[in-house]
Amino acid sequence: MTTRINPSILAADFVNLQAELARIATADLVHVDVMDNHFVPNLTFGPQMVGRIQDVSPIPLDVHLMISDVDRWAPGYAELGAYSVTFHAEATDEPVALARRLRAIGARAGIALKPGTDAEPYLELLSEFDQVLVMTVEPGFGGQSFMHETMPKLRSVADAVRAAGLDVWLQVDGGISTDTIGIAAEAGADTFVAGSAVFGADVPAERIAALRDLAAS
Ligand code: DX5
Ligand code: ZN
Repeated sequence: MTTRINPSILAADFVNLQAELARIATADLVHVDVMDNHFVPNLTFGPQMVGRIQDVSPIPLDVHLMISDVDRWAPGYAELGAYSVTFHAEATDEPVALARRLRAIGARAGIALKPGTDAEPYLELLSEFDQVLVMTVEPGFGGQSFMHETMPKLRSVADAVRAAGLDVWLQVDGGISTDTIGIAAEAGADTFVAGSAVFGADVPAERIAALRDLAAS
Protein backbone atom coordinates (compact mmCIF):
# COMPACT_ATOMS: atom_id res chain seq x y z
CA MET A 1 0.00 0.00 0.00
CA THR A 2 1.22 3.47 -0.84
CA THR A 3 1.71 5.78 2.11
CA ARG A 4 1.38 9.52 1.66
CA ILE A 5 2.54 12.17 4.11
CA ASN A 6 0.93 15.57 3.62
CA PRO A 7 2.31 18.27 5.93
CA SER A 8 -0.21 20.97 6.84
CA ILE A 9 1.11 24.49 6.37
CA LEU A 10 -1.27 25.65 9.09
CA ALA A 11 1.71 24.98 11.38
CA ALA A 12 4.20 26.80 9.11
CA ASP A 13 5.49 30.36 9.34
CA PHE A 14 3.01 32.24 7.14
CA VAL A 15 5.40 35.10 6.31
CA ASN A 16 8.07 32.68 5.09
CA LEU A 17 5.87 30.22 3.26
CA GLN A 18 8.13 29.69 0.27
CA ALA A 19 11.03 28.72 2.54
CA GLU A 20 8.70 26.54 4.60
CA LEU A 21 7.55 24.74 1.45
CA ALA A 22 11.19 24.01 0.59
CA ARG A 23 11.62 22.35 4.00
CA ILE A 24 8.91 19.80 3.17
CA ALA A 25 9.90 19.08 -0.44
CA THR A 26 10.19 15.34 0.33
CA ALA A 27 6.51 15.16 1.27
CA ASP A 28 3.90 13.77 -1.11
CA LEU A 29 1.54 16.74 -1.12
CA VAL A 30 1.21 19.95 0.82
CA HIS A 31 -2.01 20.21 2.83
CA VAL A 32 -3.59 23.65 2.66
CA ASP A 33 -6.25 24.44 5.28
CA VAL A 34 -8.79 27.03 4.15
CA MET A 35 -10.97 28.32 7.02
CA ASP A 36 -13.67 30.99 6.90
CA ASN A 37 -14.53 31.71 10.55
CA HIS A 38 -18.03 30.42 9.80
CA PHE A 39 -17.80 26.69 9.18
CA VAL A 40 -15.05 26.64 11.81
CA PRO A 41 -14.17 29.27 14.43
CA ASN A 42 -10.85 30.18 12.81
CA LEU A 43 -9.70 32.06 9.74
CA THR A 44 -6.78 31.41 7.41
CA PHE A 45 -6.67 32.40 3.75
CA GLY A 46 -8.59 32.18 0.50
CA PRO A 47 -8.12 31.61 -3.22
CA GLN A 48 -5.66 34.44 -3.87
CA MET A 49 -3.20 33.13 -1.30
CA VAL A 50 -3.69 29.50 -2.33
CA GLY A 51 -3.07 30.51 -5.94
CA ARG A 52 0.32 31.94 -4.98
CA ILE A 53 1.15 28.81 -2.99
CA GLN A 54 0.25 26.79 -6.08
CA ASP A 55 2.62 28.96 -8.14
CA VAL A 56 5.65 28.36 -5.93
CA SER A 57 5.10 24.92 -4.35
CA PRO A 58 7.46 22.16 -5.49
CA ILE A 59 4.82 19.55 -4.61
CA PRO A 60 1.09 19.37 -5.45
CA LEU A 61 -1.58 20.96 -3.29
CA ASP A 62 -4.07 19.03 -1.18
CA VAL A 63 -6.66 21.70 -0.37
CA HIS A 64 -8.91 21.14 2.67
CA LEU A 65 -11.87 23.49 2.65
CA MET A 66 -13.28 24.18 6.11
CA ILE A 67 -15.75 26.69 4.75
CA SER A 68 -19.47 27.18 4.23
CA ASP A 69 -21.06 27.90 0.86
CA VAL A 70 -18.68 25.33 -0.59
CA ASP A 71 -20.67 24.86 -3.79
CA ARG A 72 -19.76 28.43 -4.66
CA TRP A 73 -16.11 28.35 -3.67
CA ALA A 74 -14.69 24.85 -4.19
CA PRO A 75 -14.50 24.83 -8.03
CA GLY A 76 -12.27 27.92 -7.96
CA TYR A 77 -9.61 25.97 -6.05
CA ALA A 78 -9.71 23.24 -8.67
CA GLU A 79 -9.41 25.85 -11.41
CA LEU A 80 -6.26 27.32 -9.92
CA GLY A 81 -4.62 23.91 -10.26
CA ALA A 82 -4.96 22.21 -6.88
CA TYR A 83 -4.25 18.49 -7.16
CA SER A 84 -7.05 17.63 -4.76
CA VAL A 85 -9.92 19.63 -3.31
CA THR A 86 -11.66 18.26 -0.24
CA PHE A 87 -14.89 19.78 1.04
CA HIS A 88 -16.87 18.90 4.14
CA ALA A 89 -19.95 16.69 3.87
CA GLU A 90 -21.60 18.96 6.44
CA ALA A 91 -21.21 22.00 4.17
CA THR A 92 -23.24 20.92 1.14
CA ASP A 93 -26.53 19.21 0.29
CA GLU A 94 -25.16 18.09 -3.08
CA PRO A 95 -21.83 16.32 -2.44
CA VAL A 96 -22.00 14.16 -5.55
CA ALA A 97 -22.77 17.07 -7.87
CA LEU A 98 -19.92 19.07 -6.38
CA ALA A 99 -17.47 16.17 -6.64
CA ARG A 100 -18.40 15.76 -10.31
CA ARG A 101 -17.72 19.44 -10.94
CA LEU A 102 -14.30 19.17 -9.29
CA ARG A 103 -13.40 16.07 -11.29
CA ALA A 104 -14.57 17.70 -14.52
CA ILE A 105 -12.12 20.56 -13.86
CA GLY A 106 -9.35 18.03 -13.33
CA ALA A 107 -8.91 17.87 -9.55
CA ARG A 108 -9.23 14.87 -7.30
CA ALA A 109 -12.46 15.23 -5.32
CA GLY A 110 -12.40 14.63 -1.59
CA ILE A 111 -15.12 14.51 1.04
CA ALA A 112 -14.35 15.21 4.70
CA LEU A 113 -16.28 14.02 7.75
CA LYS A 114 -16.14 15.77 11.12
CA PRO A 115 -15.70 13.46 14.13
CA GLY A 116 -19.44 13.52 14.87
CA THR A 117 -20.55 12.84 11.29
CA ASP A 118 -21.70 9.32 10.46
CA ALA A 119 -20.01 7.78 7.42
CA GLU A 120 -22.94 5.47 6.65
CA PRO A 121 -24.84 7.78 4.20
CA TYR A 122 -21.68 8.19 2.12
CA LEU A 123 -20.60 4.56 1.86
CA GLU A 124 -22.76 3.92 -1.18
CA LEU A 125 -21.38 7.04 -2.89
CA LEU A 126 -17.69 6.22 -2.58
CA SER A 127 -17.12 5.79 -6.31
CA GLU A 128 -17.92 9.50 -6.72
CA PHE A 129 -14.86 10.49 -4.68
CA ASP A 130 -11.10 10.10 -5.02
CA GLN A 131 -10.43 10.47 -1.32
CA VAL A 132 -12.26 10.47 2.00
CA LEU A 133 -10.93 12.52 4.90
CA VAL A 134 -11.87 11.18 8.32
CA MET A 135 -11.16 14.04 10.70
CA THR A 136 -9.32 12.86 13.81
CA VAL A 137 -9.89 16.18 15.63
CA GLU A 138 -12.65 18.79 15.47
CA PRO A 139 -11.64 20.93 12.48
CA GLY A 140 -10.41 24.44 13.13
CA PHE A 141 -7.07 24.32 14.89
CA GLY A 142 -3.72 22.58 14.75
CA GLY A 143 -2.04 21.01 17.75
CA GLN A 144 -5.07 19.12 19.11
CA SER A 145 -5.08 15.56 20.46
CA PHE A 146 -5.88 12.61 18.20
CA MET A 147 -9.42 11.31 18.80
CA HIS A 148 -9.14 7.53 19.05
CA GLU A 149 -12.93 7.23 18.95
CA THR A 150 -12.88 8.09 15.22
CA MET A 151 -11.11 4.84 14.35
CA PRO A 152 -14.23 2.63 14.02
CA LYS A 153 -15.53 5.07 11.40
CA LEU A 154 -12.22 4.96 9.52
CA ARG A 155 -12.39 1.16 9.57
CA SER A 156 -15.96 1.19 8.23
CA VAL A 157 -14.92 3.40 5.31
CA ALA A 158 -11.83 1.27 4.65
CA ASP A 159 -13.98 -1.88 4.63
CA ALA A 160 -16.47 -0.32 2.20
CA VAL A 161 -13.69 0.84 -0.14
CA ARG A 162 -12.16 -2.63 -0.13
CA ALA A 163 -15.51 -4.39 -0.60
CA ALA A 164 -16.29 -2.20 -3.61
CA GLY A 165 -12.81 -2.69 -5.07
CA LEU A 166 -12.27 1.06 -5.33
CA ASP A 167 -9.05 3.09 -5.34
CA VAL A 168 -10.18 5.76 -2.88
CA TRP A 169 -7.48 7.30 -0.67
CA LEU A 170 -8.27 7.33 3.04
CA GLN A 171 -6.95 10.40 4.73
CA VAL A 172 -6.69 11.31 8.41
CA ASP A 173 -6.11 14.82 9.72
CA GLY A 174 -5.52 16.03 13.26
CA GLY A 175 -3.17 14.92 16.00
CA ILE A 176 -1.12 12.71 13.68
CA SER A 177 2.33 12.18 15.19
CA THR A 178 4.93 9.45 15.54
CA ASP A 179 2.77 8.19 18.45
CA THR A 180 -0.53 7.99 16.58
CA ILE A 181 0.21 7.42 12.89
CA GLY A 182 0.51 3.65 13.35
CA ILE A 183 -2.95 3.51 14.92
CA ALA A 184 -4.53 5.29 11.94
CA ALA A 185 -2.56 3.18 9.46
CA GLU A 186 -3.70 -0.01 11.16
CA ALA A 187 -7.32 1.18 10.91
CA GLY A 188 -6.93 1.67 7.15
CA ALA A 189 -5.59 5.18 6.47
CA ASP A 190 -3.05 5.61 3.66
CA THR A 191 -2.77 9.40 3.55
CA PHE A 192 -1.66 11.30 6.64
CA VAL A 193 -1.92 15.02 7.30
CA ALA A 194 0.50 16.28 9.93
CA GLY A 195 0.97 19.90 10.90
CA SER A 196 2.70 20.41 14.21
CA ALA A 197 4.44 17.02 14.03
CA VAL A 198 6.27 18.07 10.84
CA PHE A 199 6.81 21.80 11.28
CA GLY A 200 7.61 21.39 14.98
CA ALA A 201 10.57 19.17 14.09
CA ASP A 202 14.09 20.60 13.78
CA VAL A 203 14.46 18.84 10.45
CA PRO A 204 11.02 18.34 8.87
CA ALA A 205 12.40 15.98 6.20
CA GLU A 206 13.58 13.60 8.92
CA ARG A 207 10.18 13.71 10.63
CA ILE A 208 8.44 13.06 7.30
CA ALA A 209 10.67 10.01 6.78
CA ALA A 210 10.00 8.77 10.32
CA LEU A 211 6.24 9.15 9.89
CA ARG A 212 6.40 7.34 6.55
CA ASP A 213 8.30 4.43 8.12
CA LEU A 214 5.91 4.15 11.07
CA ALA A 215 2.84 4.21 8.81
CA ALA A 216 4.25 1.45 6.64
CA SER A 217 5.41 -0.85 9.45
C1 DX5 B 1 -7.32 21.17 11.58
C2 DX5 B 1 -6.66 21.11 10.23
C3 DX5 B 1 -5.43 20.30 10.23
C4 DX5 B 1 -4.33 20.81 11.11
C5 DX5 B 1 -3.67 19.60 11.71
O1 DX5 B 1 -8.61 21.61 11.47
O2 DX5 B 1 -7.54 20.57 9.26
O3 DX5 B 1 -4.95 20.10 8.90
O4 DX5 B 1 -3.36 21.57 10.45
O5 DX5 B 1 -2.76 20.01 12.67
P1 DX5 B 1 -2.01 19.00 13.64
O6 DX5 B 1 -1.29 18.01 12.79
O7 DX5 B 1 -1.10 19.88 14.41
O8 DX5 B 1 -3.06 18.34 14.50
ZN1 ZN C 1 -6.72 19.95 7.33
